[in-house]
Amino acid sequence: MANIKFAVLVTLLALALAAANIRGDATLTCEQVTEWLTPCIPYGVYGGTVAPECCSGIYKLNAAYKSNDDIRAACTCIQDGAAAIPLLDYDRINEIPGLCGTSCPYKVYPSTNCSRCVFTVSMHV
Ligand SMILES: *[C@@H]1O[C@H](CO)[C@@H](O)[C@H](O)[C@H]1NC(C)=O
Repeated sequence: MANIKFAVLVTLLALALAAANIRGDATLTCEQVTEWLTPCIPYGVYGGTVAPECCSGIYKLNAAYKSNDDIRAACTCIQDGAAAIPLLDYDRINEIPGLCGTSCPYKVYPSTNCSRCVFTVSMHV
């Protein structure tokens, strides 16, 4: 019985957090960015074809940017995440937005200075 109550509580908490995200109260979190972009990792490492889930993740990320702070946070997140993946091909990673038919406000390289990441004119907000 206690377990069921706990499960209900956890579910309610998860729903409350999700609702907060939908309302846009929370800024873009690294967890969210990671979740959207994880399907892109196989292409970045092995090449081949870009997974449709990867493209939809990129679209969601692009749609989620509300400020330059969001862009910088996502940049740092992607850079840190990419640095943790051995054999990642950065040139291939930076091809992905183009292959998905979209554009990104910055390129990801180990040397990218994320504090300079800002909205660019080519990006639809
Ligand atoms: C990154 O860019 C910011 C803003 O232009 C600058 O202040 C900072 O020194 C740069 N950091 C590095 C490591 O180049």
